[in-house]
Amino acid sequence: MTLDKTYRLVPGTTVFDSEQSAKGYHLNQFCMSLMTAENRAAYLADERAYLDAWPLREEQKRALLDRDLNAAMREGGNIYFLAKWGATLGFSFQQMAGSMTGMTEEEYRAMMAGGGRPVEGNRIDHAVLEAAHAPKTPAGHAAVTAAVFTSHVPAIGAAMDHDKTHEPYWRPVFEGYEYSRAWERENVPDVVFLVYNDHASAFDQSLVPTFVLGTGASYPVADEGYGPRPVPAVEGDPDLAAHIAHSLIRDDFDLTLAHEMPVDHGLTVPLSLMFGDVGAWPCKVIPFHVNVVQYPVPSGARCFRLGRALRRAIESYDRPLKVQVWGTGGMSHQLQGPRAGLINREWDNAFLDRLVEDPAGLAGVPHLEYVEEAGSEGIELVMWLIARGALGDVDGAGEIEVKHRFYHVPASNTAVGHLILENRPRAEEPAVKE
Ligand code: DHB
Ligand code: FE
Repeated sequence: MTLDKTYRLVPGTTVFDSEQSAKGYHLNQFCMSLMTAENRAAYLADERAYLDAWPLREEQKRALLDRDLNAAMREGGNIYFLAKWGATLGFSFQQMAGSMTGMTEEEYRAMMAGGGRPVEGNRIDHAVLEAAHAPKTPAGHAAVTAAVFTSHVPAIGAAMDHDKTHEPYWRPVFEGYEYSRAWERENVPDVVFLVYNDHASAFDQSLVPTFVLGTGASYPVADEGYGPRPVPAVEGDPDLAAHIAHSLIRDDFDLTLAHEMPVDHGLTVPLSLMFGDVGAWPCKVIPFHVNVVQYPVPSGARCFRLGRALRRAIESYDRPLKVQVWGTGGMSHQLQGPRAGLINREWDNAFLDRLVEDPAGLAGVPHLEYVEEAGSEGIELVMWLIARGALGDVDGAGEIEVKHRFYHVPASNTAVGHLILENRPRAEEPAVKE
């Protein structure tokens, strides 16, 4: 199943999708800079110098200097962004649109006055449509190889960063991840799709998106008040992320796409736990933030459904990549109020049991139960259901194998829980021999 981008065949039309957005990112951001009178004046004073200060490709600069909006669109520009540039040069929207049609300004205005361009003769050409739908054989497709579940306590990162992992308090925590690091060395993924929550680092109260998919090429490590953790920067996978965005949004999950965002302990601590102290992370990472900070937060059931759609998205990507899906946060913890320090071993372990054996049933657990039984911040556990939903067994497409399970109390204010589940897709039907 490949993604339907038939919209590309509509003649004389560029649909602004994730691919165009990636191509035109800096061009569109340049346009946004023209939303102050001061920057407009600087642009008009010396267009070339102003453009040279932006990381634009020469084709993009040329398009603007030549006033060639068709070229700017081909280069990833979007008309609503480019309109800021056109306004700076004194063009009306009608002048801008008309300039792309090959007509003079007068001809275009006359056409609009006469009722506009007719749709007849401007639909997709049938021959083009048929050629585009001819079957193609992909070189392979991506696979979800495993799901990893782990707590993401900042103090665990600090213990690693300050060489305290052998202290008696920390040793049992890190011993629980020795197997995991060896397993990761044996099973290096190409990409980790890392589900975590930002903890008021990238997103403050001015923007509270429920699901944020990172579509950028790299992500800086956030400074959460103690200075950024001394860990490698995180390399993204814009192409796979754009594919996943397209597929999930088509499946009716409303995502926010973030091309740039700092990533906090929610993302870097799991990487440190699973890969250890390394000079560079061994794979690309697609960050996926879930709002579990401000209610209403998404239900376990919605997270689980999203995970199922995520596997379909990953497995429809036409490159043979090994993708692990990680769910992070939890287990029981409460970081606030007179109930701070709440730990419920029994509930946590039942959660781990059910995550393995009855994920669909576990997805029905209401928020209230997480808060009451696992503590206010124990709600982070809903994110584990995204990773669990991405394993094929939940849709009858294979089996899972429990590779590792670990539970320990305490790490700072939390219980630490950890699971590794491998995904075993059902063997392909053997080819029929003639
Ligand atoms: C702690 C745990 C978390 O999951 C978190 O996000 C912040 C702090 C803690 O126990 O200290
Ligand atoms: Fe957290």
